[in-house]
Amino acid sequence: MAISLEELREQFYENLKNADSSEAFEQLRVRYLGKKGEVTGLLKNMGALAADQRKEYGQKVNQLKNAVEQAIADRIAEAHAKDLENKIALAPRFDLTQPVQLPEGSYHPITLVQREVEQIFASMGFTIEDYDEIVDDYHCFEALNIPKHHPARDMQDTYYLSNGQLLKTHTSAAQNAIMRKYGAPLRAIFPGRCFRNESTDACHENTFFQMEGIMIDENISISNLIYFMKTMLSEVFQKDIKVRLRPGFFPFVEPGFELDISCLICGGEGCPSCKNSGWLELCPCGMIHPNVLKAGGIDTEKYTGFAFGLGLTRLAMMKYGVKDIRDLNSGNLKSLSQFVK
Ligand code: PHE
Repeated sequence: MAISLEELREQFYENLKNADSSEAFEQLRVRYLGKKGEVTGLLKNMGALAADQRKEYGQKVNQLKNAVEQAIADRIAEAHAKDLENKIALAPRFDLTQPVQLPEGSYHPITLVQREVEQIFASMGFTIEDYDEIVDDYHCFEALNIPKHHPARDMQDTYYLSNGQLLKTHTSAAQNAIMRKYGAPLRAIFPGRCFRNESTDACHENTFFQMEGIMIDENISISNLIYFMKTMLSEVFQKDIKVRLRPGFFPFVEPGFELDISCLICGGEGCPSCKNSGWLELCPCGMIHPNVLKAGGIDTEKYTGFAFGLGLTRLAMMKYGVKDIRDLNSGNLKSLSQFVK
């Protein structure tokens, strides 16, 4: 007579106890549950049973089959867990409280120059203001005497949002809000990131930094502006810097100027960074147009003021000898990490 169900159950558990590898578990699975396996083989005993006992016996065989399946699966899971525990026990241990030795980071060259210029202007009584990067048409253009369809807008195409707002094209976009916030007299600088639709080359980028400055008081003239700019530049470069003023047109200043500095990369000889002219446009500036003062709520009978839009990105290029403006936005740590401070 073939082996009984109970005997087979005992035999299986005995064998399972002794199995200790995944191959052994697999062999057991085939031996007991395979097509020609022993649990299936139990069904051969059916023939010897009375018809009314067959159903119950069939159920028992099925139960045994499920139990065998479950028992093997449990042992496999148990073995996996043990394996993992062993791996963890053997893994190298880290002391999370140990200080790490990471390479030292650095500030971006533009941040370094920005902070330096901020300090210089702060020491001359200017406050440092922050302003949005997303602005509306009024602040970026209309309040600055640039009505809709004015040709000056052509030079300052930018990224427009679907709600009509835009990424600011110049830090001048904050002038109106700052005049309204403080009134006159007023000395403030406001650095910021600006955006324009530009074809990029060694000296143009679609994203760049400026630092706007305004000073509004009684009897302010362009000589005040020249004094502040020269003082700032000689502090930043630690030497006297050659500058020149050319007339320049901006609807929000009258008169308007371009303040150029002699290119420090080629020493004034001419190179790609200065479009071979030997001079670099660093700081457009001028006396604030009365319309702009009025829009900012300033009494134009009493006050005048100057404004400048310092090219912070340009200044960083000059100071650190960066030949290509695109390096500054590249995120390339090889070039940027030279400025560790
Ligand atoms: N906002 C001008 C520009 O980016 C520069 C500027 C600022 C000119 C202040 C005059 C006065 O083109």
